[in-house]
Amino acid sequence: MTENWLARWVNGRIGWHEADGNEGLKLHWPIDAGRVLVPLCGKSADIKWLARRGHEIVGVELSELAIRQFFSEQNLTFCFTPGEFLNCYKCSELPIILYCGDFLDFTGGPFDALYDRAALVALEPNIRPYYADHVTGLLKPGASKFVVTLEYDQNIVPGPPYSVMPDELIRYWDDLKQIEKKNDIDNCPPKFRAAGLTEISEVFWTSHL
Ligand SMILES: C[S@@+](CC[C@H](N)C(=O)[O-])C[C@H]1O[C@@H](n2cnc3c(N)ncnc32)[C@H](O)[C@@H]1O
Repeated sequence: MTENWLARWVNGRIGWHEADGNEGLKLHWPIDAGRVLVPLCGKSADIKWLARRGHEIVGVELSELAIRQFFSEQNLTFCFTPGEFLNCYKCSELPIILYCGDFLDFTGGPFDALYDRAALVALEPNIRPYYADHVTGLLKPGASKFVVTLEYDQNIVPGPPYSVMPDELIRYWDDLKQIEKKNDIDNCPPKFRAAGLTEISEVFWTSHL
């Protein structure tokens, strides 16, 4: 399973990546300070946006290639420290630390907020409850959560990214409220259109209203 992700990075099959970051984040991100957890962070430009907004960001990503691409593409430098389970990349210019390894091995809480875009939906259904539990254990009680999910007909196309419906999401975090839902078919990976799907919703959720 992890090999698939590593191979995707090696082969450049990263159709989820948004070079300019996520529009919905910029519109709806609810808070201005605090330590933010970004699980399964890839090389998301959102990391830099959140750090510039005043947050301390901690991202966790399996692929070292992704982390190194993040720093070079964002014109940032880092200091590297190897770890027993996760290697650490500490940014020199902004309050960003990226850990390389399996998110389920990460223990560096507590956090004031969660930013999950393309993380929960990247995981197979049987893994998602473990992921959500692990996230919850890393957050302070009452932490702000900002989660971006996808909803589409899973009978037409298999994941990843997977469709995660509201009932499942609310089972994990019952304080989430939906703030926006939009058809994202034009921006999603080509396999969706190729399979005949005409609608795929990008759905924004926050606990902080
Ligand atoms: C769909 S991408 C999303 C990346 C990022 N959140 C974004 O919005 O661009 C999912 C990422 O999770 C990483 N990943 C998958 N399983 C992981 C795990 N168990 N621990 C840490 N990272 C993982 C993959 O390498 C990939 O970069």
